[in-house]
Amino acid sequence: MEAFQIGDLKIQLPIIQGGMGVAISLSGLASAVANEGGVGVISAVAIGMLEPDYVKNFREANKTALRKEIRKAKSLTNGVLGINLMLAITDYEDMFRIALEEKIDIIFIGAGLFLRKPSTIPDSLFESSKTKFVPKVSSAKAARLIFQHWANKYNHIPDAVVVEGPLAGGHLGFKKDDLENQKFKLPNLISETVSEMMPFEQRFGIEIPVIAAGGIYNGEDMYNIMQLGAKAVKIGTRFVTTYECDASMEYKESYIKSRKKDITIIDSPVGLPGRVIMNDFVKKIQNGYTKPVKCPWKCLKTCNFKEVNYCIAEALFNSARGNMSEGFSFAGSNAYKATKIQTVKETIDDLIFEYNMNKYKLAI
Ligand SMILES: Cc1cc2nc3c(=O)[nH]c(=O)nc-3n(C[C@H](O)[C@H](O)[C@H](O)COP(=O)(O)O)c2cc1C
Repeated sequence: MEAFQIGDLKIQLPIIQGGMGVAISLSGLASAVANEGGVGVISAVAIGMLEPDYVKNFREANKTALRKEIRKAKSLTNGVLGINLMLAITDYEDMFRIALEEKIDIIFIGAGLFLRKPSTIPDSLFESSKTKFVPKVSSAKAARLIFQHWANKYNHIPDAVVVEGPLAGGHLGFKKDDLENQKFKLPNLISETVSEMMPFEQRFGIEIPVIAAGGIYNGEDMYNIMQLGAKAVKIGTRFVTTYECDASMEYKESYIKSRKKDITIIDSPVGLPGRVIMNDFVKKIQNGYTKPVKCPWKCLKTCNFKEVNYCIAEALFNSARGNMSEGFSFAGSNAYKATKIQTVKETIDDLIFEYNMNKYKLAI
């Protein structure tokens, strides 16, 4: 497996751990992945739920918790660290600023088109910053739009792009009806995005790594997608069943106990399909159960909290803390393949071994 670069940032292994909210990938998982030579990613969404004053002051709690987790992760590793931010959160610009102030290596930005730098952040902070910006998209067209917009507006472009296909865990950037459509399979999206990036690479004289995500579970999946031009992969689901993952043991066990038929799609209250593991709570909400939402903060721009039947941030935080009867696990389509909990090192060693098996099998 070869090292790769995002701008001047050298990354030993082409493995990026997907940011997973709420409170699934924090400093524990991120630092463990970074220590093995991959990129460890802290998920910023609703991270303030870890703080005692979240209900009273969610904005301050989010900022405090993000700063704390970044500092804690940095104290545990000298490796490469990122945060995962969603454009759809209402305090997106605050969180962006904290990440720049804390000198995080990479900001991954999803759940919306990352068309401009946050306007409330002074240019001087951007100019002095070495932080790399990497948008996450679900189509080659979205990647082109973002890069074109940046090229025209700023005369420079984001540092890499993550393309996430329909097999991923969590909220998905596709319509429910498109999830099975051949056209949107990850290999097609990767080939198309690699071609779309070429004119930008020529114009700016740099390499734009295309990073593949969604349903990549083993080294064979990694090898195959990298043959299509992906320079690295972003993996979430496989890292949930590690000791270092910051989720509760109950959350991890829900993966190990799951069968293929338990991995299902819900209509999330935020207006997107989401992939989860079926449990009693999911059955209840599918049967019309409502849990009144008293939302003093409105964390997601797209959430109409007066009409939703439950709060997804609360449900996800409950399960992250082990209360599965009041929540559920987000999970990728391959979550049912988990059979045991391992260390991050064992997981990465397995990925490298499986990757090399495929590489040399094909070479013989
Ligand atoms: C439990 C879980 C939670 C996730 N939470 C988020 C999130 O809060 N924000 C986000 O942009 N992506 C989220 N993702 C997507 C991951 O960052 C990553 O892109 C995805 O997991 C890749 O697909 P895979 O799970 O099949 O490996 C989540 C995925 C999982 C499995």
